[in-house]
Amino acid sequence: VCIRRGRWCPLSLGCMVVDGNACLASELAFLLEPNDVIAVRDRPLMLDCRVQGEGPIMVRWRRNGVPVPTSQRVQVLANGTLLIQSFQKRRDGNDPDVGEYDCAAQNRYGMLVSRKAKVQLASLPKFHTHPESMWVDEGGVARFQCQINGIPEANITWERDRTALSTSNSRYTLLPMGILQVTGVQQTDAGIYRCVASNIANTRYSREAVLNVTGRTYKEPVILSGPQNLTINVHQTAILECIATGNPRPIVSWSRLDGRSIGVEGIQVLGTGNLMISDVSLQHSGVYVCAANRPGTRMRRTALGRLVVQAPPEFLQWPQSVSKPAGGSAVFTCVAQGVPEPHLIWLKNGKVLTPGDNVKLTNNNRWDKTQH
Ligand SMILES: *[C@@H]1O[C@H](CO)[C@@H](O)[C@H](O)[C@H]1NC(C)=O
Ligand SMILES: *[C@@H]1O[C@H](CO)[C@@H](O)[C@H](O)[C@H]1NC(C)=O
Ligand SMILES: *[C@@H]1O[C@H](CO)[C@@H](O)[C@H](O)[C@H]1NC(C)=O
Repeated sequence: VCIRRGRWCPLSLGCMVVDGNACLASELAFLLEPNDVIAVRDRPLMLDCRVQGEGPIMVRWRRNGVPVPTSQRVQVLANGTLLIQSFQKRRDGNDPDVGEYDCAAQNRYGMLVSRKAKVQLASLPKFHTHPESMWVDEGGVARFQCQINGIPEANITWERDRTALSTSNSRYTLLPMGILQVTGVQQTDAGIYRCVASNIANTRYSREAVLNVTGRTYKEPVILSGPQNLTINVHQTAILECIATGNPRPIVSWSRLDGRSIGVEGIQVLGTGNLMISDVSLQHSGVYVCAANRPGTRMRRTALGRLVVQAPPEFLQWPQSVSKPAGGSAVFTCVAQGVPEPHLIWLKNGKVLTPGDNVKLTNNNRWDKTQH
């Protein structure tokens, strides 16, 4: 035991003083933790785990909490990385390599477990929404939608009469969620439409839908499609759809239900009425109202959608290392913020710590350990 600035440290910890108050010399710490990844079938996959601390350090990998069996195909490299030589997929859906992976590093003082990395297999299942045929007045609007749950998210493009649709035509608006809007419809827009979805796993074509263009008649304003409720993370981009039709062409405007201003920074209109908010912040949460007015009148239609902006958890305060004589108590504090409020879990040597006789968890998430 040696003493530095009033604190005692076991000699084995080397008495290195960091920030004047901790014994950190040989503590285990992650330099690299595994990240969430999307694997491609039959291709290699690497998950990183780099640790520092007093050796010898043993690194072990777990999948869904169970040790990963190593073999010719699955190896732990000298730098801690887990290498899966060729990622496997089984027909029965019981995929041997998909799951949540963590690495556990252990030396003589204890064990540290990394974050859980979600490993998914790239896939492109069938479309669950296909575009539907439409009859549209000349000068009106057409809207087609296709939906597919790709991992990773599929890139969706459109074809008319089996030819890629030009995105340079300002009357055509492609929204990333698989929506095609055509405004000021003309006879030349008539044809057969389908969408093409592709990602690293596959390419798929939707069923075909016909756009029929009919004569021009008077029509009251109608919102063909209003905004969806949307939940996204801060700094992402929100796209709230609003497409209205009518003759004469209605005027689309946006407001917030709570009366606050939408602002101008990062706000753009896509196509004729879709609202795009770039780099969203928590203040952008709210209910958005799209209104379609018949020009020169007070006749209007509205549609609403709620935007919820979330913030991933972020640590404001970390537990600090302490050395205590037996019989004393040690307090560890951890503070995190996020929206919705994060839930904190404590681990000791890689195992979830539950409050007990000598372990108390206080409301503000500090952990008190009293040694008897
Ligand atoms: C670990 O080692 C492998 C093989 O030598 C190398 O390809 C990989 O980039 C290394 N990973 C890190 C994080 O250094
Ligand atoms: C989607 O596909 C188009 C057309 O092939 C291509 O230009 C674009 O870069 C792709 N986008 C992404 C995000 O892959
Ligand atoms: C959006 O959420 C509100 C409640 O916040 C709900 O009443 C409404 O039905 C939802 N709209 C859609 C299109 O899901």
